[in-house]
Amino acid sequence: MKERNVFMTRRIPDVAIPILRQAGATVTVGQSDEEKGLTPAELLAGVRNADVLLSLLTEPITRDVLNANPRLLGVANYAVGFNNIDVVAATELGIPVSNTPGVLTDTTADLTWALILGIARRIVEAHEYMVAGRYKLWGPNLFLGGDVSPGGTGKRKVLGIIGYGRIGAAVARRAIGFDMDILAYDPHNPAAIAADAADPSRHVRSASLEELLRESDFVSLHPLLTAETRHMISERQLGMMKKTAYLINVSRGPVVDEAALVRALRDGTIAGAALDVFENEPLMVAGLAECRNAILVPHIASGSQDTRDRMATMAATNAVAHLKGERAPNVVNPEVYDSAAYVARRSAASA
Ligand code: GLV
Ligand code: GLV
Repeated sequence: MKERNVFMTRRIPDVAIPILRQAGATVTVGQSDEEKGLTPAELLAGVRNADVLLSLLTEPITRDVLNANPRLLGVANYAVGFNNIDVVAATELGIPVSNTPGVLTDTTADLTWALILGIARRIVEAHEYMVAGRYKLWGPNLFLGGDVSPGGTGKRKVLGIIGYGRIGAAVARRAIGFDMDILAYDPHNPAAIAADAADPSRHVRSASLEELLRESDFVSLHPLLTAETRHMISERQLGMMKKTAYLINVSRGPVVDEAALVRALRDGTIAGAALDVFENEPLMVAGLAECRNAILVPHIASGSQDTRDRMATMAATNAVAHLKGERAPNVVNPEVYDSAAYVARRSAASA
């Protein structure tokens, strides 16, 4: 069998390597420095020599990139989100695209909860106060925050979940222990919402976006980034939220209009925000870093050692399927397999 090459744009956990090698592939890593991305020229050069591309969410896989190699057999993205890839172009060109769903659901839901609790109870501000040596005397007014469970008022708090896929539902499941009511909004997943709503112990109810924004004490974002969800939280939507409410985003930065969010945090339109993702990563919009009522972390929601290893195994397994011309276990554009473009590409590759 002739030598096959998987181009891995940046290093993913080592468990991926033996899986790829066992399938007879050589692995080329585009950039090994963890703090450096690839230049567009490096990305193109790598793709031109690859049978399969294993990409990270940091690389824009545009139509031009996909078009650079008529023998490219697939793209395996090391992420559940795939907005970095032009999937429409990939499908037209006969290229299967795969992602890593499911394995990171719990880890991502856990970070969501770290952010919910952290922003409500002002954990980061309080930590900074301690390490700055400013704690002189206990008092009843130190770092007062909001409740997550019913707490002082005895009233159940409302958690609004926008995007009720695997991750949104896992966030909802964790809320049972905090005696919260859930409002769920997801036009693409009515069945998932209905299933949870049918079980009264879950306290889940389907809501319109406006109702969710107006009634929630916490609004947590879990949609895929698409044309429809880009800036779905902007000035008008922030204005509908309670002044005491918090916004949590672990999905993709552009779902939120970050400049509008900074204004809302500054003028008290909402109480606070906790963000794992940013509109122009790794940059933050001007003023965000100065907001004391924000917790900001660098896109680490799926970042446990074990989960990143499982993602690597999954991405490598998908890459092997692309290489062998088998249906990838986690293909996001399955219709590609029935296309003439795919058949043509496979025969070009084996010629
Ligand atoms: C991370 O953001 C992912 O989509 O896996
Ligand atoms: C991701 O796995 C999701 O569907 O939420």
